[in-house]
Amino acid sequence: MSRIWIRGNVPLCGELTIQGSKNAALPLMAAAVLHPGKTVLWNCPRILDVECMSSILRELGCTVFREGGALVIDASRAEDLPVPARYATRFRASVLLTGSLLGRFGRACLPYPGGCTIGTRPIDLHLQIFRKMGALPQTGREGICLQIPQGRPAGCTAALEFPSVGATENAVLGAVLAQGVTVLKNCAREPEITELCRFLNEKGARIEGAGGSVLTITGVDSLRDSEYELMSDRIVAGTYLLAAAGTRGQVTLHGAQEETLRPLADILRGDGASVRAVGKRIILDASGAHPGERFVRTEPYPGFPTDLQSQILVYLLTASGASRVEETMFESRFQIAAELAKMGADIEIENNCAVVRGPAALKGTAVAARELRGGAALAAAGLIAGGETAISGSRFIKRGYEDICRDLAALGADIREI
Ligand code: EPZ
Repeated sequence: MSRIWIRGNVPLCGELTIQGSKNAALPLMAAAVLHPGKTVLWNCPRILDVECMSSILRELGCTVFREGGALVIDASRAEDLPVPARYATRFRASVLLTGSLLGRFGRACLPYPGGCTIGTRPIDLHLQIFRKMGALPQTGREGICLQIPQGRPAGCTAALEFPSVGATENAVLGAVLAQGVTVLKNCAREPEITELCRFLNEKGARIEGAGGSVLTITGVDSLRDSEYELMSDRIVAGTYLLAAAGTRGQVTLHGAQEETLRPLADILRGDGASVRAVGKRIILDASGAHPGERFVRTEPYPGFPTDLQSQILVYLLTASGASRVEETMFESRFQIAAELAKMGADIEIENNCAVVRGPAALKGTAVAARELRGGAALAAAGLIAGGETAISGSRFIKRGYEDICRDLAALGADIREI
């Protein structure tokens, strides 16, 4: 199995164009199944989760292929088939096909969603909405089948108990072709949801309120062929900003949009770094940063994103004092602390809080990635540490980062796959 080798203690310096967004690409790929026609997604990232979703769409009868820089999906021949477990259980976002299959066929069968290392990942909030749309769930040994006797989802008014990103996206997908109007309250407001609404409206859907916590979807009878340019991946951009700030470097990230990373930009500015949004890029100069202790709490957007929690743990190892990071979204998203301890980090976990004591004299060693964002955080730690670091489990990182070695090398890192 390949590993990532890094020689650390070098300030990152350089320019990079950020890849397309994983957490926008996946719901948009699921949305393509709603329409018996063609969808072209530009700037679609070349990552394992996109490959997995492509395999599922092919098993459902779609044609999916790369043409130049675009992913082309033709769902003309999609069929009312179960979502294949061998792919669906590898990643959470396969659950988003429920809304599309219900919208198109009035039926969806899917395996029980895999829990993963960061938490159990239930889908109760998704099912609550689909029941209101007229779906009757039947649970079996293999998974769950949802059937709508009327054949088409019914518009409804529903309030999410929690602003779940996936449940919001799934509800939108189920409502687009529904009979009547759907009003969704307490929706998640992540930029990837706004992207999904914008994409669907360009396909002929009627969604109002994108970016807010109330979405009103007036059901339509059909959608149309479309092409769409995906937003850049804000979590990849945030990962590299924190890696650069941790090494006190100076980088320019093209495609990164500060408005999608406001809490992080504010933290870095508060630590004395210069963060400038110039056109569609972020310019960071952290050479003069002196981070002190601080408290970070993960929250739904526009709060600090849970997907940057492992990465800011690493950054806070370079700060002076005892910082606290509170994880409010997932019940076990601090596993990376054990691997960082092998490098000399002093991180104490108390329930859903991590106390990070710095500055730590991190030393390179062999460590293991066990999930996507923790793996990316280990790469950042290797860049900060003195000596050499070898990270196993690079396949986890490839789920969401096209080529983290390519990207960090472009920013001046001494890094390669071995
Ligand atoms: C999306 O996951 C993202 N994935 C996650 O990114 C991200 O961490 C998460 O949103 C929060 O921002 C994609 O977009 C593909 P949730 P999702 O539903 O939709 C609980 C990454 O690294 N919950 O907002 O699964 C759930 O257990 C990934 O790119 C229920 O209890 O997140 C969690 O504690 C990791 N019941 C919380 O809500 C439900 O029915 C947030 O989950 C649904 C969710």
